[in-house]
Amino acid sequence: MTRLGLLTSGGDAPGTNACIRAVVRTAIYHDFDVVGVHRGFAGLMEEKFERLYGRFVGGIAHRGGTILKTARTEKFKTEEGRRQALENLKNHEVDVLVVIGGDGSLTGALRLHEMGFPVVGIPATIDNDVAFTDMALGVDTAMNTAVRAIDRIKDTATSHRRAFLVETMGRDSGYLALMVGMASAAEAVIIPEVPASCEQILGVIQEAYSKGKAHFIVVIAEGAQPDCLTIDEFLREREKELGFGVRVSILGYIQRGGSPTAFDRLLGTRLGVSAVEELAHGGRGTMVGLVGSQVVATDLREVISSRREVDLSLYELAQRLEIYPPAP
Ligand code: F6P
Repeated sequence: MTRLGLLTSGGDAPGTNACIRAVVRTAIYHDFDVVGVHRGFAGLMEEKFERLYGRFVGGIAHRGGTILKTARTEKFKTEEGRRQALENLKNHEVDVLVVIGGDGSLTGALRLHEMGFPVVGIPATIDNDVAFTDMALGVDTAMNTAVRAIDRIKDTATSHRRAFLVETMGRDSGYLALMVGMASAAEAVIIPEVPASCEQILGVIQEAYSKGKAHFIVVIAEGAQPDCLTIDEFLREREKELGFGVRVSILGYIQRGGSPTAFDRLLGTRLGVSAVEELAHGGRGTMVGLVGSQVVATDLREVISSRREVDLSLYELAQRLEIYPPAP
């Protein structure tokens, strides 16, 4: 009988539990044994294995986080760490492995595959920077959470006539900020992929104030580096010239938590089923991703050697509707 191991690694992403449920139940459908590994690659090296049964994954699809827990670990990046992980997989008679996570976790999956272990990866990261999938697991929920938060911020911004800098997550990708900025009709979006001028932002905020605007929302990606570096300080020091009062809201980890949207539950379910089908039919060293409306398996080497870039035509589209940067 085939024994399938399953782990979640890196930053948690909503929809992961629905995915775990789908992996476990599809594996059982194929008469596989299932072993969950707690705390990702760290748990793989520390032998945190647990047999999973169908009932173990009941009632979890609507929950955020990951019931298998997760971790970030440096040790797995070493040859020694990976050898230990392989030995543990062997000792626990695990034949194939499903890894759910972002680019770092998928790189880990590729390393195991290169050492001869059969692995299939599932992209899960709110940053949406994994190539060969239009959407990673968790992105839709994070976007919705951030948009709802900004709607609320806009209420208070309008009441006080304030400008708000709202920081989204995304590491060095501007995807989340751009989508959230567009969906919440922000006045400006600042992302790492496009240089931003603080003086220019100052100018457009001043102009907006003088035209009687009631609020000014700037959505800024955490990885953005405008030319003044700390744009919050830059604007706060100029509150008087601006007219608007200035406040900062860092959305932070609320974007990673919470009950997944229907989209993420469905995506997690589809990717989870496909990952097991892939392994059941001899697929090895691949990642299953959403391409258009289909789930497609791509070689992990290809996935890891590229990165999903922000579609700058969407940035230009946003630019036409926003105030900053002024459309040419
Ligand atoms: O990769 C997901 C993410 O939430 C990024 O957006 C963010 O930069 C990072 O993880 C935060 O990492 P940690 O959970 O280690 O604080």
